[in-house]
Amino acid sequence: MSITASKVHEVREITRIERIGAHSHIRGLGLNDSLEARNVSQGMVGQFRARRATGVILEMIKEGKIAGRAVLLAGQPGTGKTAIAMGLAQSLGSDTPFTLMAGSEIYSLEMSKTEALTQAIRKSIGIRIKEESEIIEGEVVEIQIDRPVTGVGAKIGKLTLKTTEMETIYDLGNKMIDCLMKEKVQAGDVITIDKATGKISKLGRSFTRARDYDATGPQTRFVQCPEGELQKRKEVVHTVTLHEIDVINSRTHGFLALFSGDTGEIKPEVREQINMKVSEWREEGKADIVPGVLFIDEVHMLDIECFSFLNRALENEMAPVVIMATNRGITKIRGTSYKSPHGIPIDLLDRMIIVPTVPYQEAELKEILKIRCEEEDCEMSSDALLVLTRIANETSLRYAIQLITTSSLICRRNKTTEVSVDDVKRAYSLFLDENRSSQFLKEYQDDFMFYENEEHAMETN
Ligand SMILES: Nc1ncnc2c1ncn2[C@@H]1O[C@H](COP(=O)(O)OP(=O)(O)OP(=O)(O)O)[C@@H](O)[C@H]1O
Ligand SMILES: [Mg+2]
Repeated sequence: MSITASKVHEVREITRIERIGAHSHIRGLGLNDSLEARNVSQGMVGQFRARRATGVILEMIKEGKIAGRAVLLAGQPGTGKTAIAMGLAQSLGSDTPFTLMAGSEIYSLEMSKTEALTQAIRKSIGIRIKEESEIIEGEVVEIQIDRPVTGVGAKIGKLTLKTTEMETIYDLGNKMIDCLMKEKVQAGDVITIDKATGKISKLGRSFTRARDYDATGPQTRFVQCPEGELQKRKEVVHTVTLHEIDVINSRTHGFLALFSGDTGEIKPEVREQINMKVSEWREEGKADIVPGVLFIDEVHMLDIECFSFLNRALENEMAPVVIMATNRGITKIRGTSYKSPHGIPIDLLDRMIIVPTVPYQEAELKEILKIRCEEEDCEMSSDALLVLTRIANETSLRYAIQLITTSSLICRRNKTTEVSVDDVKRAYSLFLDENRSSQFLKEYQDDFMFYENEEHAMETN
């Protein structure tokens, strides 16, 4: 099997287009050079210790030295766990892979839970491949081909190439002549010749020949005559993920599966061969491994099988840094009847470092809401922002963020440009937060379908 990896480096950019989402205001972790969190920076507010801790982890990842570590972000809902992970992703740079998944994503009918986790892990490991080649690049001055007089036997010829600084004559063999003829190379073309393979590529026509009307068509591309030496070294570096290499080399799917995401399960033999090939490349100095980050949000949704799989996977030689987030306290581990902190088995917890997130102060809530207003292009009066902050404090930050969109719509209906206190109040009365909604249910539960009295509800829990 030949391993191909070079075709897909453009694929990933396409999948990362995002609209205004819950975290689109986050552009980084907002740290200074000594990794202290700035009060408000890069869309990030407060939560200083967790941000600083994540900054330390970021530094370690960037150095490329750690792999197979696990970090848990633990804290109440709405305390910025997902936001911090997004901030980390933004600061990693495009060369380090970052994979985001929610714990519940592993439950699909198409593949087993461990396959889903394996794919996520392999999506988070980058392979940086270096290719160095020697090329000859120049403008064709003359091609001279001598056919044997008898009509049979090898052709020989001479090719004159120039740059702006030099000109050289090369002897041509039979194979090169065929290549030149196939590419229809003629004087005035700028070409490159790969010295190792003899492959000839036409870059375009030299500007100096722009007036040779008989040799140009409407599609002709004009390029500058190359500068400097005719012989050049060219190094190409691209980073692909292990998962991308898996998919490309999996006979059943082919690399187009990368676009649809419809990759199905990948055979263990394929992976084994790829692992071997990659270590070979590594020994030969052709490739480096770049451990990236796998972020598993809502990690309490994983079950005992997944957790023990992760235990093992983290010990693997090629493992990414796994960051998890949860808002659960002491609760049942899925798939068992045992309880454990965060619903995560103790033996996995023992391998993790835990970063707590804490509830926000009112001033911080206000700052976050202000940033969200800017993100959603919503002008809000300072009084309205104050009311909204109070709402965030008494209900939840998420609910208050929702009210920005709704109150700005109400304001637009009223043909005013600035959201006023009344608009916020209106939105507040139209849309219930969780507390008021349960209050409402308690008052009117008799009128709803499938009403269960409280004792019954306790039993089923
Ligand atoms: N420190 C912060 N700076 C800026 N925005 C924040 C910050 N913390 C939270 N937010 C924003 O507040 C909202 C809620 O935060 P987030 O989704 O990160 O909470 P969470 O801790 O992941 O909650 P859950 O446990 O429910 O998943 C998001 O829109 C997020 O971008
Ligand atoms: Mg979250």
